[in-house]
Amino acid sequence: MTKQDHVLIFDTTLRDGEQSPGATMTHDEKLEIAELLDEMGVDIIEAGFPIASEGDFRAVKEIAERSKNSVICGLARAQLPDIDRCFEAVKHSERPRIHTFIGTSPLHRAIPNLTMDEMADRIHETVTHARNLTDNVQWSPMDATRTEWDYLCRVIEIAIKAGASTINIPDTVGYTAPRESADLIRRLIETVPGADEIVFATHCHNDLGMATANSLAAVEAGARQIECTINGLGERAGNTALEEVVMAMKVRNDIMPFSTGIDTKKIMHISRRVSTVSGFQVQPNKAIVGKNAFAHESGIHQDGMLKNAETFEIMRPEDVGLSGTSLPLGKHSGRAALRAKLKDLGVEVGDNQLKDIFVRFKDLADRKKEVFDDDVLALVSATTEGAEAIQLVNLAVTCGTGGPAKAEIELEIDGEDLTAVSEGDGPVDASFKAVRELHPNTARLQLYQVNAVTAGTDAQATVSVRLEEDGVIATGQSADTDTVVASVRAYIQALNRLIIRRSKVGPGADKREISYKEM
Ligand code: KIV
Ligand code: ZN
Repeated sequence: MTKQDHVLIFDTTLRDGEQSPGATMTHDEKLEIAELLDEMGVDIIEAGFPIASEGDFRAVKEIAERSKNSVICGLARAQLPDIDRCFEAVKHSERPRIHTFIGTSPLHRAIPNLTMDEMADRIHETVTHARNLTDNVQWSPMDATRTEWDYLCRVIEIAIKAGASTINIPDTVGYTAPRESADLIRRLIETVPGADEIVFATHCHNDLGMATANSLAAVEAGARQIECTINGLGERAGNTALEEVVMAMKVRNDIMPFSTGIDTKKIMHISRRVSTVSGFQVQPNKAIVGKNAFAHESGIHQDGMLKNAETFEIMRPEDVGLSGTSLPLGKHSGRAALRAKLKDLGVEVGDNQLKDIFVRFKDLADRKKEVFDDDVLALVSATTEGAEAIQLVNLAVTCGTGGPAKAEIELEIDGEDLTAVSEGDGPVDASFKAVRELHPNTARLQLYQVNAVTAGTDAQATVSVRLEEDGVIATGQSADTDTVVASVRAYIQALNRLIIRRSKVGPGADKREISYKEM
């Protein structure tokens, strides 16, 4: 193979992705995702927005201290205190980067109420300041795709002269289209003095469903850094999905001859972890990481008609880290088999968690004919919590067509056994009311979502619950063959997380004090 142009992968799951309403992650979850990104070969991790909150600062700092390979980047508005705070956090990395930005389109210029000249001066001042702290500075003209061409060229030239080594071109509102995306990058490279000395990056949002196409078009035109997130997580319709651009360049390397440093076999595992910790489930037909993305395989195997998998496969499930096997575990399988399976699925657990998963696995295997890989992963998610203030002891529900549903619940709260009976509009409503009776709270249910993890009427239901109280958001996820039980467990898990967050930093914990859009 000839040497190919390398495209840098800049992952912003922990900044642009986590900023998406409801996708808030805990500190430990951010560290875990950063470690997985580092291990999978992401070139640059945008770990957060240090000035936004104390929590963001701590996360970026700790990620910077721990990461082994990736450049660790933090976001900063075009203000000197933002840039200083950002550097305070990223400087602990062996390879720190400051990413500073300002909205340059007419609509965005109106927010800080700066004239074109005043904004140009601000860009010169802030990029110079960042460059005095580190030689790795990235600058972004936010809403670049709606910025006047002459002004865009002018401010990019200023940023390059002030020392930016990466110029990112954000399509902030997901407005551009592939041909336009390519033309913009090509013309900037041809026009702006100094453009050949720096890396152009593309940062696309998916409002019109074109983020992947726009990013790849930009690369074909000369961009050498793609900004993206796992599962396309991000505000509104999300960002470019890492797994899509990486696999597109791998599978269609004949027409897009670019290399990346990503170990694609790690894609499925990180996709599942991001889905679990963010509470944003992946749609079943999502490219690359959706549950059905390789589903044709079983059809091939079952009817035994087709001799060649390539008839329907453009990539192998193994290439993205799917084993492609259905689970040989059953109710007679022991702990060693379970541990081996977990290892196979890329999950490492400690002895205590294995014990917990094994108890749940045995219970599931008793109730369910076949236990698939996804079932096991759902069990892992259900057990990734520490000490819990509230625990479900028992739940009995009666419901039918004759009247309101009734839930009798027994909870252990801080070691005390308590029971309650509630009626409601369906079994889930009745059960949640019963929980609230025993643990009164003002948390608002922002999201309640049920998915079947595997096939069949005995499939496990995975339930995601997102709660919000005083600006603090917590998610819970659980799986069970009984949807109501899974719902109550997920609800309790979210409540437990709220309790932990409140107790750690008091009311308002993890609340973002400022948004990157406020100037
Ligand atoms: O979408 C956007 O413009 C951003 C910038 C902060 C780069 O995320
Ligand atoms: Zn963005």
